[in-house]
Amino acid sequence: MKVSVVSQSAPEVSADLLALPVPEQPRKKWKLPPPAAAVDRALDGALAAALDAGDFRGKRGDQHLAYGGGDVAAGRVLLLGLGKTDKIDREALRRAAGEATRAAARRGAKKLAIQAPSVRGLSATDVAQALAEGAVLASYRFGRYKSKSGDAPAKVGQCALVFGDAKGRRAARDGAKTGATIALAQNTARDLSNEPGGDLPPATLAREASRVGREAGFRVKVLGVPELKKRKMGGILSVGAGSSRPPRLIVMEHGRRSAKKPTLCFVGKGITFDSGGISLKPGAAMDEMKHDMSGAAAVVGALQAVSELGLPIHVVGIIPAAENLPSSTAYRPGDVVKTAAGKTIEVLNTDAEGRVVLSDALHYARTEYDPDAIVDLATLTGACVIALGPWASGLMGNDEALVDRVREAGEASGERCWPLPLWEEHREHVKSQIADIKNTAGREGGTITAGAFLSYFAEGTPWVHLDIAATAWTKKTGPTQPFGATGVGVRLLVELARSWRS
Ligand code: BES
Ligand code: MN
Ligand code: ZN
Repeated sequence: MKVSVVSQSAPEVSADLLALPVPEQPRKKWKLPPPAAAVDRALDGALAAALDAGDFRGKRGDQHLAYGGGDVAAGRVLLLGLGKTDKIDREALRRAAGEATRAAARRGAKKLAIQAPSVRGLSATDVAQALAEGAVLASYRFGRYKSKSGDAPAKVGQCALVFGDAKGRRAARDGAKTGATIALAQNTARDLSNEPGGDLPPATLAREASRVGREAGFRVKVLGVPELKKRKMGGILSVGAGSSRPPRLIVMEHGRRSAKKPTLCFVGKGITFDSGGISLKPGAAMDEMKHDMSGAAAVVGALQAVSELGLPIHVVGIIPAAENLPSSTAYRPGDVVKTAAGKTIEVLNTDAEGRVVLSDALHYARTEYDPDAIVDLATLTGACVIALGPWASGLMGNDEALVDRVREAGEASGERCWPLPLWEEHREHVKSQIADIKNTAGREGGTITAGAFLSYFAEGTPWVHLDIAATAWTKKTGPTQPFGATGVGVRLLVELARSWRS
């Protein structure tokens, strides 16, 4: 989808479908925003009739379709409810742009235009960014595995954001460019996460990261088994040992280390398929474990956006990639794994593999890059699905200021996270009688004890952990979200990098 910014009056805009977002109106004395009012006049009150009849009130999700003609250049006109005025934020704009895009796609409308609403507290840049994000996210389809392309829904080729006055056009163009860039990067993450495990072993994930790096302009380095052995990365090697398709450590880098710029490390869990290993998972929904590299996907997407936006900051993406399968070469319950950090892990359950691969990746981030902050993203625990559900990612860390910062980036980007405690008691609880720590400590506080485990490998560096087990994929379609991978984390990480001031 091509996103552009135009400055025209709404009736003049030529499009197959012109979407007019409208805040919630009172039942009687309703008043359309000026662009919609102008279209209404040109249509001899056809929109007013819908409001008078009470068929459209601008509630969130309300839609009313009318047709152009006469002095209205657009073929179709769609009133879109934005909901209560004081509740209209960036997320409401993403949603509205997504609804407009889906409405256009359903009707085979190739050329979409969306009137930019004016929203208190948001600049033209902010509004354009949110609308562009919503439209590009909503146009995402994972169609690779459909043999007949005819099964795919129609594509909306163009989306023009309409800003009335030419003054704000430049600012709006910047915002639209930023939004489209970020959303396309999020769609890259969705593509990777949706890919079946059988077609995306660690080496292929590494190749895909390299391809994205080539296209977006960041550097990619891939460590294979000999290098992992040399670095004594027993965590990654153990989890990968059960598969004939060996593990990798993928390192992506945007910018360079300098005294003037902060260094951020983004670490993403890259289990390309999680069967549980010898501690085999039950069969139900095991197919969903193809998404167990969604943290990795988010990190690839974030590097794509950070690089394409040319952010003045040093960002390193690190992905421990492995396939967790049962076999005669697999690691077993009872085994003790020695990590690159020198710390030993008692394996009590081979299905708690995410934390085991992340141990080496966190250590690598700390020791190779001495970053200002590490943020890891992982589909780490089923317990997080129960604790927070699909409404927020779990958030923990060893640095209050960083936790706050990540939480704010989540709010601004519409990718909510919610803090959980990480106390010394939790860290005590994962100590082992045999080794230094154990990879499971029972069901109580399962999300937090997983975080506590990770904290042993981040010691000394400001670090935050995001458990995206419940937010990385969905069965429910939404305005900006089809079935499957969400690409969660990309917008949050990019927002964090954009807003970083050390
Ligand atoms: N990838 C899973 C976590 C997961 C489960 C994510 C369901 C999304 C939906 C992870 O590797 C795992 O298996 N965790 C175990 C840990 C347990 C054995 C301590 C879990 O949560 O059951
Ligand atoms: Mn597992
Ligand atoms: Zn897993």
